[in-house]
Amino acid sequence: MQTSNRLDGIGEYYFSQKLREIEQLNKAGKQIINLGIGSPDLAPHPDVVKALQEAAAQDNVHAYQSYKGVPVLRNAIAAFYQKWYGVTLDPDTEVLPLMGSKEGIMHICMTYLNAGDQALIPNPGYPTYSSAVKLAGGEPVYYDLTLSGNWEPDLEALEKTDVSKVKLMWVNYPHMPTGQLPTDHFFEALIAFATRHQILICHDNPYSFILNESPKSLLAVKGAKEVVVELNSLSKSQNMAGWRVGMLIAAEERVNEILRFKSNMDSGMFLPVQLAAAKALSLNKSWYDSVNQVYTERREKVYELLNTLGCVYSTQQVGMFVWAKIPATYKDGYALSDKVLYEANVFITPGGIFGSAGKDYIRVSLCGSLEKFSEAIKKIKACV
Ligand SMILES: Cc1ncc(COP(=O)(O)O)c(C=O)c1O
Repeated sequence: MQTSNRLDGIGEYYFSQKLREIEQLNKAGKQIINLGIGSPDLAPHPDVVKALQEAAAQDNVHAYQSYKGVPVLRNAIAAFYQKWYGVTLDPDTEVLPLMGSKEGIMHICMTYLNAGDQALIPNPGYPTYSSAVKLAGGEPVYYDLTLSGNWEPDLEALEKTDVSKVKLMWVNYPHMPTGQLPTDHFFEALIAFATRHQILICHDNPYSFILNESPKSLLAVKGAKEVVVELNSLSKSQNMAGWRVGMLIAAEERVNEILRFKSNMDSGMFLPVQLAAAKALSLNKSWYDSVNQVYTERREKVYELLNTLGCVYSTQQVGMFVWAKIPATYKDGYALSDKVLYEANVFITPGGIFGSAGKDYIRVSLCGSLEKFSEAIKKIKACV
């Protein structure tokens, strides 16, 4: 069957393919330790699970739900933004619950991009931005992030290029995969840039609580609501990746525009999931501290693993991964990843999947037990 033109140049998602290969290797008797994917292995808070169980046992919770989410969840999102980011939102008009932030990326692109419209995309960056832009018929224009530039876009250099066709700009801080935190100065400069050029900044913010003491929202910057749509997620910070709960925060007009697309694509989330998500958003600092305690210990192990491989990395990174430069003895991150996969039975993500600027890097996930990391280090030591 001939597939649609819009799929030209869009391959299956890298991890979707790679997980199949790992499954095959496991079937063939290898026991692959997967340190590739950022899918939290820790459980959500027990009260969150209890809220889901109790609600799911009720008779009257199984119907279709509102496209805009129930007030309990929208209020919880607004309270969460106020408490942690100091951002005041109208829960009725400026909040849109999503089934994960990944789907929000597609909704935004489908809402705003016409053929010929350009979207600025970070290189390296989350691969879904460019696929969603292409699927929506837009043209991705990559901006390079470099270590020497603090993994921030060079706005002055961008300003010297022709940005007249740029409608959207994807940004993501704390940045995945480099773990870079945003500074206030950078966020302010970004809003000024967007305002000057009338570009909608799409800020993807799923990692602000992981190994980070000062969560930030781009919407906290003065004037941001005019030019920003922000995505957030319960996948990482609340350990709920499989639940598929995210949110979109924006001015009322933007929420209504995006809802025009989204309400034709999906329906409201299962009510017990919404009620449990509201519970998760009300967790206090001790919850985040306890999760981060675990990640801190794991990160020490990841440093040991990276030292074994001769990689170089910053210890200032935040988020769920460690991003590391590979030794010059390897052609690129793919070569190192393949060697470790086939010789040590450990899977580590090659940085090149995040764009050409990630070619000489690898990314190690913190989503594994200490025992798993110790085992991986032992196996890698035997092969390097
Ligand atoms: C930068 C970034 N944005 C968005 C997502 C998607 O998260 P969600 O589970 O909310 O769809 C991920 C997941 O890996 C991510 O790394």
